[in-house]
Amino acid sequence: MKTKYFKVHKEEPDLQSLQQAAELLRQGKLVAFPTETVYGLGANGLDAEAVAKIYQAKGRPSDNPLILHIAHPQELNQLVTEIPANAQALIDKYWPGPLTVVFKRTSIVPDIVSGGLDTVAVRLPASKIARELIALAGVPIAAPSANTSGRPSPTSAEGVLADLDGRIEAVIDAGDCDIGVESTVVDCTTPVPTLLRPGGITLEMLMETLGEVEIDPALGGGEDYIPRAPGMKYTHYAPLAPMVLFEGPYPRIAELILQEVKSALAAGRKVGAIVSAETAETLPANVATVIYGSRERTDEFAANLYTALRSYDEHPVDIIFAEGIAEDGLGLAVMNRLRKASGYQIIKG
Ligand code: TXA
Ligand code: MG
Repeated sequence: MKTKYFKVHKEEPDLQSLQQAAELLRQGKLVAFPTETVYGLGANGLDAEAVAKIYQAKGRPSDNPLILHIAHPQELNQLVTEIPANAQALIDKYWPGPLTVVFKRTSIVPDIVSGGLDTVAVRLPASKIARELIALAGVPIAAPSANTSGRPSPTSAEGVLADLDGRIEAVIDAGDCDIGVESTVVDCTTPVPTLLRPGGITLEMLMETLGEVEIDPALGGGEDYIPRAPGMKYTHYAPLAPMVLFEGPYPRIAELILQEVKSALAAGRKVGAIVSAETAETLPANVATVIYGSRERTDEFAANLYTALRSYDEHPVDIIFAEGIAEDGLGLAVMNRLRKASGYQIIKG
């Protein structure tokens, strides 16, 4: 299959390209498209055969359910049996935006979308392109991140094509995603809403609206817990080389990274480092350094995270050392992804 390529402007997308892409979705084909978080791999969410192609193209385990993306809040009604008051409060405040809410599903939602669960995850993205595409398709769009299962999510069309070129019908390229980590997933079928995946809407923002939020114990990363967002139990976001994550206060963390870098170099290993601008200055020149941004700018860490994790694909190293940040705001989502990407190989300072 030759993957069709549509280049569109992020804020003023060309309607003709979106119409063509929407037509492909209506025909049951796969189209990758940008959202404000990461690129999604879309299919008609009410067509079980179309959705099956997503699992196939990604190599995704079939018990890992998908998010349905809608263009208008009213489209939620046909998909869910009820909208609890706390879910309504979240929707009113954070849709359109990087928030996914889990509801009890109706029978219109194909089993394959929800991986056999009696719930469905729904999101109304902020991205104008995503919303126009969904509206033109006229159906909810099932879309996981547009990467091969287990790899870092793509935040650019290049990232999508690196994994899926020739395996999908089309990709819509609108440049880099603004946020860079996936949406927050909140389960509103529990008496107290439960945070299943930290993301673009921060825990602080959820607390402000809900007053009370439970945190899925599996987010701590302990091996005894089975995550309730099935997708959180798989190896994820992994770069092609082993990665060690450093956690702790600055500048102690920079000292520890330097120490480990030096001993790896002394052992003759090719070393990569994904670090802040501040820490980068302390590292030797023969380290393949990728800078996420300043330590003061959690948003830059988030925006550059997945590109950084993918940057060693073409210039391989033997080991990658990654710098952690504080877990407030977007930092909670960044650290969740970094811990998974490292396979929980963590050095604490
Ligand atoms: O930002 C995002 O959410 C992106 C863009 C494309 O919208 N999508 C995304 O999809 O990250 P995906 O499939 O990579 O991650 C969806 C997560 C998985 O961890 C999955 O297990 C969880 O949401 N999930 C989906 N349906 C669920 C359900 N019914 N109950 C609990 N967790 C669910
Ligand atoms: Mg994903």
